Amino acid sequence: MRDHFEIRDHDAAGRIGRLEVPRAGVTVETPALLPVVNPNVLTIEPRRLAEEFGAEMLITNSYIIRSTDRIRDRVLEEGLHDFLGFDGAIMTDSGSFQLAEYGDIDVTTEEIIEFQRQIGTDVATPVDVPTPPDVDRERAERELETTRQALADAEAAETGDMLVNAPVQGSTFPDLREEAGRHASATDLDVFPVGAMVPLLNSYRYAEVVEAVRAAKRGLDPDAPVHLFGAGHPMMLALAVAAGCDLFDSAAYALMARDGRYLTVSGTEHLEEMEYFPCSCPVCAEHTPAELRELDGGGGSADTDDDRTAEQLLAEHNLHVTFEELRRVKAAIRSGNLLQLVDRRARGHPAMLDGLRTLLDHADELEETDPVSKDAFFYTSHESARRPEVRRHHDRLSRLAVPDRILLTESDAPSDHDYDAVWRVKPPFGPFPRALSETYPLTAEVPERVDGAAQVAAAEGVASLADANPDAEIVLGHDDWAPRAVDAVPDRVETENLRHLGR
Ligand code: GUN
Ligand code: ZN
Repeated sequence: MRDHFEIRDHDAAGRIGRLEVPRAGVTVETPALLPVVNPNVLTIEPRRLAEEFGAEMLITNSYIIRSTDRIRDRVLEEGLHDFLGFDGAIMTDSGSFQLAEYGDIDVTTEEIIEFQRQIGTDVATPVDVPTPPDVDRERAERELETTRQALADAEAAETGDMLVNAPVQGSTFPDLREEAGRHASATDLDVFPVGAMVPLLNSYRYAEVVEAVRAAKRGLDPDAPVHLFGAGHPMMLALAVAAGCDLFDSAAYALMARDGRYLTVSGTEHLEEMEYFPCSCPVCAEHTPAELRELDGGGGSADTDDDRTAEQLLAEHNLHVTFEELRRVKAAIRSGNLLQLVDRRARGHPAMLDGLRTLLDHADELEETDPVSKDAFFYTSHESARRPEVRRHHDRLSRLAVPDRILLTESDAPSDHDYDAVWRVKPPFGPFPRALSETYPLTAEVPERVDGAAQVAAAEGVASLADANPDAEIVLGHDDWAPRAVDAVPDRVETENLRHLGR
């Protein structure tokens, strides 16, 4: 039991939680976005991150602080919170990212954990090895062994009330990720980042990001707080939360701004090519793209005392949309329509659609934490047919007993009939007793023009019921289902096309 993390609400594998950070004396609401602060370049003052953007926690890099003479002694003397001017929770990274980028760093886990303790870090990180995607298995296993040792060294260190990360590596091998998650969970460390995701995130390989997260989650305790290291693009937050991530860190807002890139919930645009800002954040409300481009030439606006550069303003917009999306994700969890939000985001980019489809491959895992009742289920795309609620209904059908002769029909019950029972059929769920019509998820809003995927799912529901009741005589009245849906109905179920019957 991890007593510093409490889960308040669930939707799919997403949750709203509270992470208690004792050293900072604060409790952070999750999902949380930790802006990445470069200790050398404060693109946005940390005080403003808290006051104007609502950041409760941020992340900076203890390795950079330790290896920069100009700031190391100041940070040691003042402490990290005073140095940055931020009194929320501060997580620090260890230099692992530099290790992955440059192949070598001059610090051990023991030394960097002690340094993090000295500067007043609230959540520290050992020197894990971020094994990149697509390496051979031998390397992934060898480097996992080094990460295991780093976790052991962190456990042995004197940490007081500082929380410590236990990164989960394993490259693109789901079984290694799962094993690494199980191992990390068994340590007495506190927060569980899924690591080495940056190469996958940068190339929009969201399906593999979801696979890695789900694999790590299978190994981790269900109540472990999970951080998706290096993820903070607003486009993928809903997907990553639905897969079970609680913490994110965004360097994207600042890095993208440096290249003139403007983040939106459906991708990344170039300031250079924009004529309008589709956003209403303070930056977009007060500037046009052309004005921002002009700032670049002039270096700040001449006629005001605002000396922010185009890069800073872009960074602010990028962070505003990211926090806005995070609030939208939280609201969706509360209402129980997170998967609908993910579905909407998946329409913004094909790579996101791959991510959603991969997430739905794990509908059985999502089902374990999905609430039994929430706001109405909306059928908004054929991916909706694979949602955990549909699966749960089918599991239920496989346990329901029916009388000897039963009619399952999409139309109203005929007024005179000689069946023992007449049940409704509603794609994508399939059959159910009329008494359940007003219960979740059968209250679903489904379009008049149902698609083939919903009909196939309904046929699978019919099959579940038929399998559970091998002796029952079952007749299905369907409203002109696609041939592939009719084919998915077991042969022993008699089918009638209501359209042909004129009903
Ligand atoms: N930042 C982004 N990815 C990683 C990772 O895998 N490990 C650490 N320590 N920091 C990261
Ligand atoms: Zn904006």
